[in-house]
Amino acid sequence: MNAREKLEITCSKAWLPLVEDPLGEWRLRWADGFTGRANSALAVGDAGRPLDQALRAVCDFAHDRGIAPMVQVVRDSRNEHAIAAAGWVPATGHGAGHEVVVLTKRHFHVKVPPPGGHFHVKVPDEAPPGWWGLALRPGEDSPAARQVLTAGKVGYGVAVIDGSTAGVVRGSLVDGWLHVGRLAVAPAFRRRGLASALMSAVQTWGAEHGADHAVLQVAEGNSGALALYAGLGYAPHHRYRYWVPAPGSCEDSTS
Ligand SMILES: CC(C)(COP(=O)(O)OP(=O)(O)OC[C@H]1O[C@@H](n2cnc3c(N)ncnc32)[C@H](O)[C@@H]1OP(=O)(O)O)[C@@H](O)C(=O)NCCC(=O)NCCS
Repeated sequence: MNAREKLEITCSKAWLPLVEDPLGEWRLRWADGFTGRANSALAVGDAGRPLDQALRAVCDFAHDRGIAPMVQVVRDSRNEHAIAAAGWVPATGHGAGHEVVVLTKRHFHVKVPPPGGHFHVKVPDEAPPGWWGLALRPGEDSPAARQVLTAGKVGYGVAVIDGSTAGVVRGSLVDGWLHVGRLAVAPAFRRRGLASALMSAVQTWGAEHGADHAVLQVAEGNSGALALYAGLGYAPHHRYRYWVPAPGSCEDSTS
């Protein structure tokens, strides 16, 4: 497995589904529909069987659990070329964006001075009141979502203004990496440095827990977030995409 694929495995450990079945080195994942990452097959490495059988297993696993079959695969990798050749198509209908950039930053354990402003930022080990309301988008709240976001060693970054939760971020420690996700600032408080302060705080939390590099995943189309992360020193490591079966090619074999 190459470095891009190994980092995909690390990221998947920071975002654990409720069910994960191995398929050779691939992982079949289910989390009751909460996020593509936790409800797709991670197609990295060798599936241990011919590709048509592997893709059939992806379809069967998804159908058995009531989610749409989808694979997550490193862009321009051998697996991606093979999946395309098998007739699968880019998951252009995936709401959160089917093309994702994985960004990394190394050796961040230097405390960045927080920007000025009348807000307070902390990273407790349990989600404070108000964290979920921003970390989960409308319609996302469910026991599965809460289980995915609380699994593992997690820090819950929160920025508070006048007693209200104005921004949140999730940090997770895996394999010596800090995985950053769910960064969100309430619309009324944007462009005041809150996201930058939250990133600084979660990086410090990660460094205090032994991580010395950070990774995050952001949709290609999220230009605001990409600008933010570039300014904070994050650089593209690789990209991945979601793929789905062509219509009619992956019917439920049990129905
Ligand atoms: C992306 C987001 C977290 C930024 O929060 P924020 O508190 O406004 O960010 P900051 O004020 O710390 O921004 C710092 C710098 O990042 C860049 N930046 C932030 N938002 C930007 C935007 N929408 N467009 C362009 N650049 C942006 C700017 O360089 C900015 O500095 P400036 O304001 O002096 O120009 C916020 O817009 C948000 O919650 N978006 C929706 C959720 C989301 O996309 N989260 C990221 C998921 S990966």
